[in-house]
Amino acid sequence: MHVVMNKILFFLTTLWLSFWLPVFQFHHGVKGQSATAAQCNRSSPLTQNSLGQSPCDDAAALWGVCTGDATPWPPLPNGSQYSPPQPDLGEVNPCTCSSVVYVLASACGWCQNQNFTTWATWTTNCTTAQQTKGFPSLIPSGIAIPHWAYMDVSGFGGNFDPTIALQLGGTSDTASQTPINDVIRLRLS
Ligand SMILES: *[C@@H]1O[C@H](CO)[C@@H](O)[C@H](O)[C@H]1NC(C)=O
Ligand SMILES: *[C@@H]1O[C@H](CO)[C@@H](O)[C@H](O)[C@H]1NC(C)=O
Ligand SMILES: *[C@@H]1O[C@H](CO)[C@@H](O)[C@H](O)[C@H]1NC(C)=O
Ligand SMILES: *[C@@H]1O[C@H](CO)[C@@H](O)[C@H](O)[C@H]1NC(C)=O
Repeated sequence: MHVVMNKILFFLTTLWLSFWLPVFQFHHGVKGQSATAAQCNRSSPLTQNSLGQSPCDDAAALWGVCTGDATPWPPLPNGSQYSPPQPDLGEVNPCTCSSVVYVLASACGWCQNQNFTTWATWTTNCTTAQQTKGFPSLIPSGIAIPHWAYMDVSGFGGNFDPTIALQLGGTSDTASQTPINDVIRLRLS
């Protein structure tokens, strides 16, 4: 009953907020949400890596490395997007402010047929030094990060771009256990 009430309250709050905010920033770390993990429902090679993991699985795993909270990300309510790292929650660091975490968080929203934020907004509360290219920490074992997650967001106009991600490769992985502090640059012909 308690859980059901929470769900109803959450739904009503979400509904209420969606009338007042043009974009509802949905925090992935919201406590007390259903244990259901976000799932991709688009038909695209970007929805699965070579291990069958989705960008949402990858985003949650890397977010766990960055913050210590590896809770699966809940599905996005309609009309919302995942919120950038929040200073009030101690989430801002070079790991959460990295291009790979931004790209995977964005791809997680996109693959649910929802929206994603710009790189500029994602890094609003990050210092310039904290805005890292690539991923500055170790990829956890058992997790494969697709090649396209290393796309150069600043070189490509500042945002995640599913079209460019597909050109970079939807299935090949950089299953690296060492930090990769760089991004790949696609030659657009
Ligand atoms: C995916 O789910 C969203 C939200 O429930 C829905 O709006 C969208 O139409 C779905 N897309 C597909 C391809 O099923
Ligand atoms: C999701 O939101 C969009 C735009 O606000 C709307 O057109 C669509 O009908 C909504 N879909 C669902 C499943 O509520
Ligand atoms: C998606 O987000 C981008 C950047 O925040 C915004 O410019 C765009 O209008 C949004 N699209 C929809 C359909 O809400
Ligand atoms: C930046 O941090 C402030 C203070 O916590 C917060 O109110 C604001 O929403 C954050 N901006 C973004 C884009 O997340």
